[in-house]
Amino acid sequence: MTLNELNPKNRRAADILIANDRGGYTVPSAKLYPFQWNWDSALVALGFSIFDPDRAWQEVESLLSAQWDNGMVPHIIFWKVEKSYFPGPDQWGTADIAHNPPTSGITQPPVAATVIQRLLAEDVDDIDATRDRAAKLLPKLDRWHQWFLDARDPDGLGIVAIMHPWESGRDNLPDWDRPLSFIDTTGVGTYHRRDTDIVNEDERPKNNDYDHYMALVKFGRDCNWDTATISRDCPFWVAEPGMNAILRRAERDLIAMAKLLGMDDIATRAASRLARLDTGFEKLWSDDVGGYVTLDLRRDEYATGLTSGSWLALFAGHVEPKRAGKMATTLSHWLTQVDRGVPSFDPNHELFDSIRYWRGPVWAMVNWMIATGLIEHGETDLAERIRADTEALIEQSDYREYFCPVTGRGGGGSDFSWTASMSLYWASRPTGDVINSPVLTPTTPEQEAK
Ligand code: GLC
Repeated sequence: MTLNELNPKNRRAADILIANDRGGYTVPSAKLYPFQWNWDSALVALGFSIFDPDRAWQEVESLLSAQWDNGMVPHIIFWKVEKSYFPGPDQWGTADIAHNPPTSGITQPPVAATVIQRLLAEDVDDIDATRDRAAKLLPKLDRWHQWFLDARDPDGLGIVAIMHPWESGRDNLPDWDRPLSFIDTTGVGTYHRRDTDIVNEDERPKNNDYDHYMALVKFGRDCNWDTATISRDCPFWVAEPGMNAILRRAERDLIAMAKLLGMDDIATRAASRLARLDTGFEKLWSDDVGGYVTLDLRRDEYATGLTSGSWLALFAGHVEPKRAGKMATTLSHWLTQVDRGVPSFDPNHELFDSIRYWRGPVWAMVNWMIATGLIEHGETDLAERIRADTEALIEQSDYREYFCPVTGRGGGGSDFSWTASMSLYWASRPTGDVINSPVLTPTTPEQEAK
């Protein structure tokens, strides 16, 4: 579809992506986030794929071009000098490790493989060219996924840890409160936050949270982001369902692509990693809470609430029907507590905060992943409710960073890239994740086994 063929609503979403395009990479939001962010970028490629597949490929290519020698793909790539964002390259101190340009020192959820699988499936004009493009990226995905196990699961538990809340992509989730409370912040010093110059304070993490974030950045910088030191000594070492679910999904999609492209070594390695991750994921199930929850690996302590990341278990792969049904029932109950879903944190929990970032608000791209998982488990009505809620929130409050689940008010940045991207991509595929592609074979566990 060309730009001119889009209806006015989709055209407006496309125009946001075009306006946030900085030439080969897209910023999440012009003022608030003026660089390339990892999972934003991957998800933004889906939107571009609707009207400019070449530009979609460029987005994931530029992201993966910033891969470190050890395999990590960083969470921010500082392509340009830009003083309006904090913490910038000096705080991360990665100049000796990252190749030009500087980057942050942590990663983000590896949704890129899942996105690339869709580009491969859907960019069908010149199938050979499409396959060549994907084939160049697969070794990078393979090394990144391997890094997760080596660096973030060195003890072979089958669950990867995060060393910083920002690594989860869900910065100030209540799950981090207790693990963060054990961190000494005395060495942090004074600094000037830039985010609250742009966005209302009541929508952003609190200053006390920021001190803890900066203490962890200092920890990483002081050990030169050495993964062995981090896994052994980092005071924040937590496994959470969102990151682990997205990684499992990514491995599944990588296997499908590697098989299709005849890259057998990659398929074999990814399958062995996936087996370890599928088994390990069950450690995140809590009978007390009734779902997959965050586990503080330093204290062997489970979080007390479900989050939007809990539902991503359905996106990760097959959940046996009884458990999937129970999850759908709990999620439906959540939706009776709010006007529009899916809230990022349990609306019945005392720490729920409907407007403060990841402590309650709805995020369009998480909704898309949850709905995709629901469809794959036959929960099509619930998936449709979530799609319709997302559309209604955007209709009411425009393409904001996130939305209050109670009032529908938009929060954070405006003209936000991944909100526009998801809206555009989802509108073009209203029934969700159904891909009728001549390029790709489906990837349910049953089909993989055959
Ligand atoms: C915030 C979000 C994170 C996102 C970034 C850029 O830090 O929590 O998930 O990647 O903004 O949009």
